[in-house]
Amino acid sequence: MSVLIFTDNPGVQEVKLVAEELRRRGLKVRAMAPWDFSLPNMPNLDADVVYAPSNMLHRGSTYELTHRLLILRELEKVATVINPVESMLQYSKEQLSMRLAKLGLPHPSTIATENVEEAYAFAYALLEKEKEVVLKPTCGARGVGVTKLSGIRRRDDLLQFLVWYTREHAQGVYYLQEYIPNLGYDVRCLVIDDNVVGRERRFNQTDFRYNVAVGGSAEACTDPIYDDLSIAVADATGLKICGVDILPGEDGKPYVLEANCYPGYKALMEATGIPVHERIADYLLSLLR
Ligand SMILES: Nc1ncnc2c1ncn2[C@@H]1O[C@H](COP(=O)(O)OP(=O)(O)O)[C@@H](O)[C@H]1O
Ligand SMILES: [Mg+2]
Repeated sequence: MSVLIFTDNPGVQEVKLVAEELRRRGLKVRAMAPWDFSLPNMPNLDADVVYAPSNMLHRGSTYELTHRLLILRELEKVATVINPVESMLQYSKEQLSMRLAKLGLPHPSTIATENVEEAYAFAYALLEKEKEVVLKPTCGARGVGVTKLSGIRRRDDLLQFLVWYTREHAQGVYYLQEYIPNLGYDVRCLVIDDNVVGRERRFNQTDFRYNVAVGGSAEACTDPIYDDLSIAVADATGLKICGVDILPGEDGKPYVLEANCYPGYKALMEATGIPVHERIADYLLSLLR
């Protein structure tokens, strides 16, 4: 039995941990990157499961994306790919916003648009009500580019800012969201195959973003209060391994912020002691049986 790890970033510590764990359990493991494939001829891979721990469809050029998608589709013909290719392809914050709206799951008021006037109108309406606005790259992660708008009021300044933002971070799609006054932390639930395998509470005294990658701290969270919600979110996205971020609002409601397609789990492991790489290996092995 063998597992192929397909990633554009094989040096990541979390990926190495999973590879080592699978080898320890007697599996044949090899890693390949998109540039190890030359189409149209796919190599004979002899893999039962393909583990794709990467946001490889969400960085790089549109041409790379199309090329990688073709490889993934071919891989899916001969093996089980995790996360499923369709869920990887559909992955974006705006897709999640749409799914959550359809399912009636709690989410901050949001707009996704290429139209700068629409983005402006959305932001202005919130600012006028003394609310704040969060801008995010639709496929970003780790808090990068997540920005809060609070001080700008003049139309010219706001439009100028939006134009700068899209050039710097958003690549043409504005994703704006109402800022939710909150309790000073968010909760990341790591979901594997419809089970929450670990939770962390993240906080930061100096930044509204609680991501550990931008200076936040993490501690273990033993309260399963958001487990059902996280599993429902994972289910809605089709992601088999994902990190769901939930923000408890000051109003007592939990707001779903996002479901990560490839969640880094180092901080969660450190905060909780949960051997996440073993849980991932358990899941991949369960697919082989
Ligand atoms: N609408 C919001 N209201 C309040 N805080 C938010 C909001 N959206 C994001 N944040 C903060 O910013 C962090 C990063 O946002 P998130 O949507 O998870 O993007 P990323 O993919 O970069 O992690 C969150 O963990 C949270 O602390
Ligand atoms: Mg996040």
